[in-house]
Amino acid sequence: MTDGFTPQPLDREATTYIAGHRGMVGSAIWRAMEGRGHRSLVGAASSDLDLTDRGAVFDFMAQHKPRYVVLAAAKVGGILANNTYPHDFLSKNLQIQVNVMDAALEQGVERLLFLGSSCIYPKLAEQPIHEDSLLTGHLEPTNDAYAIAKIAGILQVQATRRQHGLPWISAMPTNLYGPGDNFSPTGSHVLPALIRRYDEAQRDELDSVTNWGSGTPRREFLHVDDMADACLHLLEHYDGPQQVNVGTGKDATIAEIAGLVAEATGFQGETHWDTSKPDGTPQKLLDVSKLAEAGWTSRIGLREGLAATVEWYREHGDSLREVG
Ligand SMILES: NC(=O)c1ccc[n+]([C@@H]2O[C@H](COP(=O)([O-])OP(=O)(O)OC[C@H]3O[C@@H](n4cnc5c(N)ncnc54)[C@H](OP(=O)(O)O)[C@@H]3O)[C@@H](O)[C@H]2O)c1
Repeated sequence: MTDGFTPQPLDREATTYIAGHRGMVGSAIWRAMEGRGHRSLVGAASSDLDLTDRGAVFDFMAQHKPRYVVLAAAKVGGILANNTYPHDFLSKNLQIQVNVMDAALEQGVERLLFLGSSCIYPKLAEQPIHEDSLLTGHLEPTNDAYAIAKIAGILQVQATRRQHGLPWISAMPTNLYGPGDNFSPTGSHVLPALIRRYDEAQRDELDSVTNWGSGTPRREFLHVDDMADACLHLLEHYDGPQQVNVGTGKDATIAEIAGLVAEATGFQGETHWDTSKPDGTPQKLLDVSKLAEAGWTSRIGLREGLAATVEWYREHGDSLREVG
């Protein structure tokens, strides 16, 4: 139904609504678009526009009539939060997505990018994880509610394409890191937690740091500025119903990553591993061949990206948000 649409450079003058523009991903996309000369960016904090309020979302969209929408607003959290509040992760994310996409449909939004997450893929998916493995097996139970909401979002994009012919797309990023991350001790993902721990250890001149698990699981990390660049690339060069994985295509062991964080913080002590704590899945790596076919590969290496993130963390230490 999207016959006849050819991806093309985004119009720098067109109104673009970035939902979630104060979050880690949304703010990176805002910076990237601003840097490329987009003059008509629109965003609203959740305190001004609660995206679970359907009427308010329709009014906002009718007022601004965006030509493009990036849907980077979501209720996001680590394993603990996902496992403790599955109802909120399912219900709030479904409401946000349905409201934004229905209101965008009403306005005939030309290009919409929906952001999901690699947790949509089955727990035991073959590595590296290809887009085709979606809906081929059981999800990781600790974040299944969040994953189901994100899968529903992909389906809504596909259904809108089929029924209404709008060339909307979905992107599924791997683990992200960078400026604006959540560094809370209880709610944060593995990388910000490592940065916080090693930074404190360096400051307090500790002899050693102890991390959970064996350090052997392999994980992939993408800098959020690379992620923003990939999103804009997809909007300008990709059209298709299938979600596109966004990652570096390279993974490293948690021990290697911890070593890079120690280096970036200047921590000189030893690292110990508490093997009585669970390791999680042995490997999580996205197959990024579809993204490469679309003409994009990541540019920011882990060592360089981590050094910049530690610098950012130290500069913003006092004002960091602490979402539990
Ligand atoms: N971070 C990662 O590693 C990662 C990895 C893969 C995928 N992603 C995906 O990328 C997207 C953005 O993630 P993120 O890391 O940028 O999350 P984030 O930093 O927590 O930002 C989420 C944004 O959503 C907004 N939001 C949440 N609930 C809202 C509501 N009811 N009404 C209005 N706005 C609301 C928040 O607005 P306020 O700030 O105004 O409250 C916040 O700015 C998500 O879809 C996530 O699944 C992230």
